[in-house]
Amino acid sequence: MSVLTHFVVWAMMFLLASPVQAEEKKLRHVAAKDCSGCHQQIYDQWKHSMHANSTALSDPIHGAFYQKVMGDPLKEGLRKQGKYPVCLKCHVPAAARDGKTKMDALPAYQDGVGCTTCHSMTAFKGVKNEKGGLRLGVDAYAFSDNVIQASSDSNFHPEIESAGQKVLFKMVGNSTVLKTNAVCMGCHERRNNLNKVPLCQTGDEIASAPGSTDCQLCHMPVTNGVVDHSFMGGHTAKMVSRGLLMTMKNEEVKTANRLTLTLRNKLPHNLPTGAPFRNIYIKVMAFNDAGEVVWRNAKGHPLKEDKQSVLWYRLGDDQNKNAPPPKATKVLGDSRLKPHEVRDIEYLLPKEGISRIEAKAYYSLLLPGNIRSFNTQLPEYAKQPKLIGAAAITL
Ligand code: HEC
Ligand code: HEC
Ligand code: HEC
Ligand code: HEC
Ligand code: HEC
Repeated sequence: MSVLTHFVVWAMMFLLASPVQAEEKKLRHVAAKDCSGCHQQIYDQWKHSMHANSTALSDPIHGAFYQKVMGDPLKEGLRKQGKYPVCLKCHVPAAARDGKTKMDALPAYQDGVGCTTCHSMTAFKGVKNEKGGLRLGVDAYAFSDNVIQASSDSNFHPEIESAGQKVLFKMVGNSTVLKTNAVCMGCHERRNNLNKVPLCQTGDEIASAPGSTDCQLCHMPVTNGVVDHSFMGGHTAKMVSRGLLMTMKNEEVKTANRLTLTLRNKLPHNLPTGAPFRNIYIKVMAFNDAGEVVWRNAKGHPLKEDKQSVLWYRLGDDQNKNAPPPKATKVLGDSRLKPHEVRDIEYLLPKEGISRIEAKAYYSLLLPGNIRSFNTQLPEYAKQPKLIGAAAITL
């Protein structure tokens, strides 16, 4: 045998002897679709939720910001100033745990906040780390990744199939994590920008409110015997309207009609809560006998003309000018309703010629400035305000 043949035979034996290690399937790589066969209703609810549409590929609003701040969601190895794009820790949890950035690489990445993100959580570590910094999204949790190849152990969730493989997993997630708001807080408690300015802080808001802090009671109600997984919030007018009670009274004073609008936040968190660009505003109009508008508080969005009617979180820079979330260095104002706050706003209207007064409350996912800068990237629904409340009186 020549040396060469000897080597080839040896190499072949070596290759045959070492089994190609089948990569072990991880629970975080099990796609939501694999759960749909047996939990169809929950799957359908989730599929239409913002959790299932949280990636830059499926949420046009997040997509517009992500591309501007971070870059191409289809690129692997994307880094911003040498750092992994922090957004993915909440918006694409499975990719973040793999350290990947190409969002269409696996169905489980495209799932965004998918079934196995929440249902594999074993512990909530809290969002504050030892150094006083924040643990964002997936960093705030411990997870179980133990997908077990088919076995007959009955302590597991019934066997399921994922990408042609039979898998079993243990439902370790059904614990205090899922029964309390710990399952939400890792992503919803607080997030700061690089200048340590808080962007969203639903958790901090709720900590300051008396009474229940259980997110699931409102956001995952039991309907028709099933735990609802639609996770409704700012994208659903009906949900936002649940938070606001608006009433109106008018008093004739010497030279005017004094109108008082009372706004009540029925929620244990701010109204609106969440992302800093969410805003609620009120348009007030007075009509004469002929039904013509004789007075109004503002023509378009009242941000400039009537500040008191806008509930918003105002971020700014060192020159005290409005600034977008990534660039803000300070908070210039916060007129959102605090948990359970009741607030009166007043208007003086002309005394004569008014027969009816009407107020309408609108919710907008974005501020007028955001809509201007991302205009062509945004679908119509993202630009259109939603009517969330109305009140009227006839004089
Ligand atoms: C082959 C059918 C099947 C598939 C696929 C399936 N499940 Fe289940 N699942 C069940 C059955 C059966 C139960 C027990 C009865 C029930 O609660 O509906 C269950 C129960 C559960 C429970 C409640 C467990 C508890 O202890 O309260 C959760 C959570 C759950 N499944 C999550 C998932 C997730 C996540 C997936 C996808 C990774 C999935 N299931 C896929 C059949 C399935
Ligand atoms: C954002 C976190 C989150 C996501 C995402 C999520 N779940 Fe759940 N799920 C929960 C919580 C919280 C509960 C309620 C746990 C409790 O109270 O015991 C729950 C309950 C369940 C139950 C038990 C329902 C019942 O009626 O007893 C099933 C089954 C389930 N989820 C399946 C799924 C499937 C399938 C998906 C994906 C399509 C999914 N979940 C996505 C958090 C989540
Ligand atoms: C792994 C991170 C993560 C977890 C855990 C999580 N969420 Fe979310 N949630 C998100 C992200 C990201 C979005 C925004 C998606 C988007 O709009 O692009 C979101 C959006 C929402 C919305 C807004 C929906 C809308 O209409 O805009 C609600 C409500 C919500 N989550 C409730 C919950 C509740 C309740 C829990 C706990 C049961 C929870 N979430 C757990 C990441 C998470
Ligand atoms: C009493 C019912 C109630 C409870 C409890 C509650 N919420 Fe809400 N939540 C609402 C309503 C109603 C809205 C819509 C109004 C708004 O956007 O502020 C909402 C909106 C939201 C949004 C949407 C923000 C956006 O940008 O679209 C998020 C996120 C959210 N809640 C998270 C939570 C979390 C996390 C908890 C638990 C810590 C929680 N909520 C507890 C009723 C509740
Ligand atoms: C700590 C978790 C977390 C991180 C990190 C995070 N987000 Fe979010 N993001 C959320 C949650 C939760 C929501 C939805 C609820 C809310 O408004 O608070 C959201 C909502 C948004 C929205 C509104 C989406 C819509 O449909 O209206 C945009 C835009 C957004 N995030 C952009 C980003 C960008 C860009 C980054 C990275 C620079 C980022 N987020 C990082 C948790 C996070």
